[in-house]
Amino acid sequence: MRPGSLPTLERRGTVRGTYFVQTWGCQMNEEDSEQIGLYLQDLGFVPAQTPREAHIVLLNTCSVRKKPEDKAFSFLGELREIKQSRPEMVVGVAGCMAQLRADEIKRRNPFVDFVVGTAQIASIPGLVEEALQTRKFAKRIDLPPRTGAIVTDIPQRNLERGGKLKAFVPIQYGCDKFCSFCIVPTTRGRERSRPTEHIVEEVRRLAELGTKEVTLLGQTVNSYGKNLAEGRVPFSSLLRLLAGIPGIERLRYVSPYPRDFKTDVIEAIREVPEVMEHCHMPLQAGDDGLLKRMKRLYTVDSFGDIVSDLRKSMPDIGLTTDIIVGFPGETDTEFQATLSAMERFRFDGAYMFKYSPRPGTPAAEMEQVSREVSEARLKELMRVQDKITLEKNEEQIGREFEVLVDGPSRRDPTRLQGYTRCFRMMHFEGDAGLKGQLVILRATEPHHWGLSGESI
Ligand code: 5AD
Repeated sequence: MRPGSLPTLERRGTVRGTYFVQTWGCQMNEEDSEQIGLYLQDLGFVPAQTPREAHIVLLNTCSVRKKPEDKAFSFLGELREIKQSRPEMVVGVAGCMAQLRADEIKRRNPFVDFVVGTAQIASIPGLVEEALQTRKFAKRIDLPPRTGAIVTDIPQRNLERGGKLKAFVPIQYGCDKFCSFCIVPTTRGRERSRPTEHIVEEVRRLAELGTKEVTLLGQTVNSYGKNLAEGRVPFSSLLRLLAGIPGIERLRYVSPYPRDFKTDVIEAIREVPEVMEHCHMPLQAGDDGLLKRMKRLYTVDSFGDIVSDLRKSMPDIGLTTDIIVGFPGETDTEFQATLSAMERFRFDGAYMFKYSPRPGTPAAEMEQVSREVSEARLKELMRVQDKITLEKNEEQIGREFEVLVDGPSRRDPTRLQGYTRCFRMMHFEGDAGLKGQLVILRATEPHHWGLSGESI
């Protein structure tokens, strides 16, 4: 189809045009974008390579920090120019920033056809049709109430999503923790779990169509299972249930909340062969006063107890974390405590962020740390952690690992890449036909991003 021509064909099975989804943010957003793509395909649209030629452009936005919000506004600026030569292009905005700043998005970008909230992904096909036919601006924003019936309030999902080696599966939506820096409870609503049977059904279908690795998604994924109509289902039981589905070789989950790491979960990781030996446990800060101001419900020592339990049970488990520097009022002593915590826990990897005030959150009202100080601290933290990461990777040299082969490496397409069970990226030479296979490799060289390996 010629770029720019307006798709009007109604018949299913006929290509009506093309779509482009631009995604920022977390795995939950990536997964939502996959769902959006499936809905648009159902309407008869196929993926476009760039937004420039697409008939429908969807932005799936992120509000966790200011930077992804700025990127979305600048992307909208580019679309404004494209719209001048192709006014028939349909533009929709979804995700956390849509949920929070719908009116501002529309005011600054009057050409936007619709804005849709985080819980209304399933209304996108209807909004696209409406835009194609009437081009009337539509806004669908809704959030579940703070209390009340929970399990009914689960987004519909399109389960026709086969053919992926690795798939994300949401098991829980929203968050009830209310950390003082975090916007997620406002953008994604209260914590609610998907009924177990729906999750099992989705994973079963994925496995039948070739998925070998499933990553379970939730804001505090290991608190899964509260308020279900079927009664409480502990996260550890869900892991055991899913691991038994034929074809599933590997199970992961992001992100657990440290305090909810109970013994039964640790046992499940140790006992169930399909559950990968990796935990991403966001520590956020290494000082109890800071943790308290962040409203994190643990101390550095109680976090340390979980780390010890995990490592006692599985000495080779991979542990990664998230850290925020420059949280309001962070003193130099508190920051030094975070550095010490990194030395104490020796994480295998860490995502490190400069605090970004989110309007409407309690921390945004507190006394801020200057940008210069935050930047210097982030640099220092990264220096300390990068050294630890490299040392941890060095310790792996000569050891053997099971790797699930993703296919050609993105860094070096002449080599293959995959992940170990402790979630280290590995590069190696091999035949492209190994894609999707589990292979055993020996680690030969450490890098800051993972390991090089060779077949044995
Ligand atoms: N500023 C900086 N980082 C943040 N995160 C969440 N909110 C903020 C914020 N306001 C980080 C946390 C979280 C990760 C997904 O993003 O470390 O674990």
